[in-house]
Amino acid sequence: MGTVTVGAVRERAPGERRVAIVPEAVTLLRRAGIDVLVETGAGSGAWFTDADYTEAGARVVPPDELYARADAVLCVGPPDADGTAALRAGQTLIGLLEPLRHPDLVQELTGRGVRTVSLDLLPRTLSRAQSMDALTSQANIAGYRAAVLAADTYDRFFPMLTTAAGTMRPAQVLVLGAGVAGLQAIATARRLGAVVTAYDVRPQSRGEVESLGARFLDVQGPPEREPGTGRGGYARELTEGEQRAQRAALDAHIARSDVVITTAQVPGRRPPLLVTAAVLERMNPGSVVVDLAAGDLGGNVEGSEPDKTDVLDNGVTVIGAGRLPSAMATAASTAYARNLVALLRHLVRDGELVLDPADEITGALMGETAP
Ligand code: NAI
Repeated sequence: MGTVTVGAVRERAPGERRVAIVPEAVTLLRRAGIDVLVETGAGSGAWFTDADYTEAGARVVPPDELYARADAVLCVGPPDADGTAALRAGQTLIGLLEPLRHPDLVQELTGRGVRTVSLDLLPRTLSRAQSMDALTSQANIAGYRAAVLAADTYDRFFPMLTTAAGTMRPAQVLVLGAGVAGLQAIATARRLGAVVTAYDVRPQSRGEVESLGARFLDVQGPPEREPGTGRGGYARELTEGEQRAQRAALDAHIARSDVVITTAQVPGRRPPLLVTAAVLERMNPGSVVVDLAAGDLGGNVEGSEPDKTDVLDNGVTVIGAGRLPSAMATAASTAYARNLVALLRHLVRDGELVLDPADEITGALMGETAP
């Protein structure tokens, strides 16, 4: 019986502090009979030292040795050009490879005989795949962080406070997009005492929103007529007309909210525009908008850019949230590493890394079947 060797690389994307494997995961992988290599300094952004990894049973090695020896290379985000070039035929790359946004990377690697396992393609609604769901683990962190960031930026209290000098009203928080990140933002804002309202195109999210003590916003418009649920439990992209109707229905709610957190995404598409410049102008001074969907394709808020905070002329702060999971690198890496351990337990059988395209989970992750 052989032994599978996996190697966690140091992330090279600017501002990325996460790492694919943390020391506790090394212990679990070793127990499952998997050898672990970790690139020198890989955990430093998440406060894990090389000595922590060695103590847990990993071998800390320079990148050349890692790429030479690993059967599977583990990463968080897609590798840079050097990392891509270092991969060789027969090797497997496992990570959030964003194949829908960057199809070239996966195509190039596949063309060279490198197998790719993209955690972003995991079927989300399959219960036995839940422990491997890295999109969920990372979105959870992003949602929490977005609410904390909004509370930190907002110049009043989130909770209602009654003091000898009178009562302070609670903040009115609106969350647009109630998927994993949105639900965690709702829960976190509620724990801080805000009054929370939320909206999603998928009608199924109503029950989840209400179970967290938030109000589900009833907006009249096309999404009510035809549910906005698409394939794999994800939202579908609304038509131009539907988007206009949705914005018209939401504008009044947005304008009177103290804090708006947007998280709406449609896989492989530009995020829907939910908060226009015109509605930002109507918000009160001191209001805070956090756009979790901000990225290179644009975001839910007009003019927002990732990792950029703008204070508009009318005193509204717009935060384009960039790498929120990376801002909580220790928690994010720990959760991600647990997802990888669950995945590797699924893929490694009798000392071999088995990538069976006919397997429902593996096939999806390899891009063999639609997510
Ligand atoms: P996502 O990150 O793709 O999108 C975030 C949210 O934005 C979604 O809830 C989506 O419906 C919403 N959205 C899209 N367009 C919108 C618009 N125009 N206006 C308002 N909202 C809009 O979603 P995420 O969080 O990755 O979840 C995807 C799906 O997977 C959801 O249905 C979620 O419930 C499901 N899921 C199921 C799990 C399970 O069954 N164990 C685990 C994790 C996710």
